[in-house]
Amino acid sequence: MNPYEELEFYNHVHRDAPIAKNMEVLFQGAQVAGTDFLSLYMDCLERSKTAVGSWKIFRRAQRAITLARYFEHSLPLDGLRAECGVFQGFSTLLMAQVARQHDAGYRGDGLHAIDSFEGLSAPTDPDALGVNEDASGRRDLVYSHQAGHFATPIDHVRSVLSDFPQCRIHKGWIPDAFAGLPHADWSFVHIDVDLYAPTKASLEYFYPRLTPGAVIVNDDFGSPLFPGAARGWHEFFEDRNRSYVILDTGQSIYIHE
Ligand SMILES: C[S@@+](CC[C@H](N)C(=O)[O-])C[C@H]1O[C@@H](n2cnc3c(N)ncnc32)[C@H](O)[C@@H]1O
Repeated sequence: MNPYEELEFYNHVHRDAPIAKNMEVLFQGAQVAGTDFLSLYMDCLERSKTAVGSWKIFRRAQRAITLARYFEHSLPLDGLRAECGVFQGFSTLLMAQVARQHDAGYRGDGLHAIDSFEGLSAPTDPDALGVNEDASGRRDLVYSHQAGHFATPIDHVRSVLSDFPQCRIHKGWIPDAFAGLPHADWSFVHIDVDLYAPTKASLEYFYPRLTPGAVIVNDDFGSPLFPGAARGWHEFFEDRNRSYVILDTGQSIYIHE
């Protein structure tokens, strides 16, 4: 099956399945930072107005609990925290809410959210799903999404994060947007930019600035539609002879020693 057939297959088999019941069975009683994960998850989806396709409905929740747990794990570490790839603010809000569970007075301090808010940058060769050849023999790379997909007004994200006024939102293209970040050490980075070039550029920026024990989570390692995110990540760590783990959720995780 190609990625599109796989996606359609999942949508098809899920079509009349009791999704809410399955979610309840999977996550009932699951806690993150001492609070009920499922309620936190649903609340962040709703506030950010983030829709989840039926084909990835369970993976999305499993990725969210993984993100929340690694983020919580990083909270005792010194250093700032960042998200590269914010879209409508779902995962930034989730991280901020987890921090607030630990410190009721948390207002987003040390949290930096970076996005073009103009959607994806242009995909490059490693992002291609394959090659299309027309009758004349012309060959074109095939990408799942074009530049500009996921564009979101920054004001939407400002409003989603309005309870966390100290969270800094940086609008700009990765890597140029990193010039606006404070010179600091970082204890947690969530990379969720889908594509090869910004995934690799995010690692190039943050890796030399990590504090011992810092965590980097890549949301897109196993994405069927965005193969470049895994390629950029893997190349980066392979070049430095560093190990990382790949989770069944499709995320990859690096813990800095
Ligand atoms: C899948 S979305 C992020 C999802 C988000 N973390 C969430 O919780 O819903 C990917 C984001 O990466 C951003 N992005 C992709 N390439 C970028 C680049 N080169 N510079 C800045 N942002 C980029 C897009 O604008 C988009 O908002």
